[in-house]
Amino acid sequence: MKAPAARVRAGRPGFGWTEEAGRRALALSPAARQGLRTILWDDLASEYDARFYSAWIEGLDRTFTPEFWEVHEAWREDEDRHHAWIRAAWTAAFGWDGEVEARLEARRPDFGPIAHLFEDEFAIACLGCYDELATVRAYRKSLPVYGLLGPGYRAVVGRIIADEALHYRNYLDLIGRRHRHRLHEAEAVVGRIRAAEGTPYRATFVLDHDDAVWDEGIFDEAARILLEQLRRLRETGAPG
Ligand SMILES: [Fe+2]
Ligand SMILES: [Fe+2]
Repeated sequence: MKAPAARVRAGRPGFGWTEEAGRRALALSPAARQGLRTILWDDLASEYDARFYSAWIEGLDRTFTPEFWEVHEAWREDEDRHHAWIRAAWTAAFGWDGEVEARLEARRPDFGPIAHLFEDEFAIACLGCYDELATVRAYRKSLPVYGLLGPGYRAVVGRIIADEALHYRNYLDLIGRRHRHRLHEAEAVVGRIRAAEGTPYRATFVLDHDDAVWDEGIFDEAARILLEQLRRLRETGAPG
């Protein structure tokens, strides 16, 4: 039997983490509360924007392989779930009011400034790899802040990180399966993606890197690791 193109994970966060998050949030200092609110809002909005990315990909006049759609659909389900978990954390910590909902609903994407990164399936898979790698690092960096809501929410974010790493792996596998013949272009393609950092974020899901948690070190490391893995894929047929 042919292996599926997208590896999927199983399991859900344990019970009780939202109650714990609510209790912990009440005990936070105003400064800690504000810091948490800022980071959670960025997460909430960015995972929300997956719907815009999905619609953009579906509307592109490009040819995609069935394996791409398999990876894409598994990705979309996960990102929707991440948004739901972060929404539950926000609700527990701050309550859910019409203002937050209105801010989310008012979001409008603009892919114009990064449209050149969507040349074809190979370029899009490289963009997916790069973005997920960078995301893993940003979530990891903020773990102490998530921990303010207790070990339960910290574990939820651990699950999110594992999903983002899996998305990276799925895009990389897709490149190995369908785009090996394009690997000599990797340096140019990843270079273009790296150079697009600094473009103001416009609800595009990818390259959502305006917030304070991001720095040039994360971008450089994501580009370096990706290029190294693509080089190994080219030389040996398997990523390291
Ligand atoms: Fe996510
Ligand atoms: Fe992801």
